[in-house]
Amino acid sequence: MENMLHLAPTSRVPLDCFVLPRDQLPPAMSPAVVSLPVIDMRRGRDEVRRAVLDAGKEFGFFQASPRINKQVVGHGVPEQVLRDMEAVCEEFFLLPAPDKAEFYSEDKAKRNRLFSGATYETGGDKYWRDCLRLACPFPVVASDTTKGDWPDKPQRLREVVEKFIVLARRVGMELLRLLCEAMGLQPDIFVGDISGGDVIININRYPPCPSPRTMLGLPPHCDRNLITLLLPGAVHGLDVAYKGDWIKVEPVPNAIVVNFGQQLEVVSNGMLKSIEHRATTNSVKARTSVATFIMPTPDCLIGPAEEFVGEDNPPYYRTVKFRDFVRTYNVVKLGSGLNLTTNLRNVQKEISSK
Ligand code: OGA
Ligand code: NI
Repeated sequence: MENMLHLAPTSRVPLDCFVLPRDQLPPAMSPAVVSLPVIDMRRGRDEVRRAVLDAGKEFGFFQASPRINKQVVGHGVPEQVLRDMEAVCEEFFLLPAPDKAEFYSEDKAKRNRLFSGATYETGGDKYWRDCLRLACPFPVVASDTTKGDWPDKPQRLREVVEKFIVLARRVGMELLRLLCEAMGLQPDIFVGDISGGDVIININRYPPCPSPRTMLGLPPHCDRNLITLLLPGAVHGLDVAYKGDWIKVEPVPNAIVVNFGQQLEVVSNGMLKSIEHRATTNSVKARTSVATFIMPTPDCLIGPAEEFVGEDNPPYYRTVKFRDFVRTYNVVKLGSGLNLTTNLRNVQKEISSK
C-alpha cells in the first residue's frame, strides 16, 4: 500500500526506477494535439457505420459522441451516468488511505484490486499510475456475489459502476454490429464467447508527476481484449501511435474514446488494426481515466474468421485460446517503440510453438 502514488508525498517516492530508457522517453517536443475522428452518432446509420469503419481502418481509434434525442445508434450512455461515473471514481481516490487498504493487492490473479504501475511485465521499469481494477461477469445478475468484492465506499460506487458497465458494454456491442454491417458481414459475429467474458474496468489515476519528461503513466501497448471504451477525462494524457509518431488525443466532452483490441485484429485477419497507445503524465493536475474492456471468455478459441480469409488472403494469425494469448502477450517489449502491432504475429508464433 505504501507504493500507491496517489497517497505518498512525491518526496518519498524513489524516482530512479521510474525513469525510462532514452528510446522510450516522450519526445522533447510535445506531439501535435490532434483530434481523433469524432463520430456523430446522430447521423444516419449508413453514414455512421461507414465512418466507424473508415476511422477504425485509419486510426484504430475514434471518439463516439453522445446520442442526442432518441437516435438508436451508438453512444447511448446518458450524460448523467458519465458524470456519476467520473465523480465516483474521483471520490474513490480521495478517500483516506485506511478505506482503501483492504483492496490493495499485488496479486495479479485477483479479479478486483487496487494496485500501482502497469499490468504488463516491464522488466523493472515503473509507471506513474495507480489503478482500481474491477471485474464484472456478463450478463450482469442483480444478486451477483462478485460485486461484493468491489469497494463499498464511496457509498454509491457499486451501483454507479454497474450501471455504467451495462451501458458502456451496450455501446461497444453496438459499434461491433455497425462494423459488421459496414463490412457486409452477419451483424452478430462478435456475439457469443468472443465478447462474453468478464467486462473489466480499469479506473486509472495518474497523480501529478515530478518529471513528466522522463516518466510515463502507461507504457506503449495495445489492448489485448476485443474492443475498449475509454473515458479519457478532461486532462490530456492519452497518446496514440499514428504514422510513426505519437499524436495527443484532445478529449471531446462527453465522447467515449473507442479502440480496437488485438482480438479484433486477429478475427478480422488484420483488416482492423489494434493500435499502440500510451499514457503520459503532467506535473500539475491529477488525471483519472476509465477504460472498459470487452473481453472474450478465457477458453474462447480466436483466429481469423472465415469471412476474412480467402484465396488471396491467407490467415495471417494463428488460432489460439484467449487465455494462452494473454499469458504470452504479457511483456512490454522494451525499446520496441512503435512496432508492437507488427509484433503480434511473432507473439503468436511463440504461443503456438509452446
Ligand atoms: C488502458 C489505457 C489510457 C489512458 O487502460 O489500457 O490505455 O488514457 N489507458 O488512461
Ligand atoms: Ni490501453
